[in-house]
Amino acid sequence: MEKERKLIIAGNWKMNKTVAEAHDLVRGLKLELANIKDIDVVICPPFTALSEVSKEVIESDIRLGAQNMSEHSGGAYTGDISVLMLKEFLVRYVILGHSERREYHKESDALINIKTKAAHAASLRPIVCVGETLEERESGRFEEVITTQVKGCLAGLEKNQMEETIIAYEPVWAIGTGKTASAEQAQEVHALIRKTVAGLFDEATAKRVRIQYGGSVKPANARELMGQPDIDGALVGGAALEVRSFSDIVKNCLN
Ligand code: 13P
Repeated sequence: MEKERKLIIAGNWKMNKTVAEAHDLVRGLKLELANIKDIDVVICPPFTALSEVSKEVIESDIRLGAQNMSEHSGGAYTGDISVLMLKEFLVRYVILGHSERREYHKESDALINIKTKAAHAASLRPIVCVGETLEERESGRFEEVITTQVKGCLAGLEKNQMEETIIAYEPVWAIGTGKTASAEQAQEVHALIRKTVAGLFDEATAKRVRIQYGGSVKPANARELMGQPDIDGALVGGAALEVRSFSDIVKNCLN
């Protein structure tokens, strides 16, 4: 597939996999995805499995991501994980502002903005999530919701930091529901996100930013989604929990 930007496909394992299960999954992925260099492949296990998984991915092209991090560098923050702790396990990416964190932990755009800057300060690449709810889509307000989220989460970054930031468009109504946004619906929002980034920074910067789609991505729909001009990768939930489905998604998006 001819793409302007290198595809990045990430698996968000969410709150799944014991250490033993994580070990099996990463070993399977290593076998299936050895020598894939044309797509950036990232896996994001739960914190408790990072140590084990990091030992497995060291000599592979698979990169490690985390699912969240604290905006603080350390101290009395019970239950939180700092960027330094993530870096011990060779974590290169961190998902920020996932809709599940926004919903269950009340994370705001302002907080996600602070976390995004903290990630960059430590040379971690943030995957910043945005997306509208079903009600926001049906009421036709989704464009305003998305632009507000993009501006709120990304304001004040340096241009080079923006270029290293990945944005994930995840319509909340498509997450875990089996309802994927159509390729056209997703492309429309991805183009809007890129336009918003161009307005905040400039056209050249916006052209370099990779924007992933997330929400019921499967082997059967990945290629069509990736064929859209402004879709530069996928953030995969359920289908990232099995070797076969995740590796098929990646392979189906190769040339
Ligand atoms: P599903 O692929 O299970 O819909 O989840 C998407 C997601 O939330 C990835 O972060």
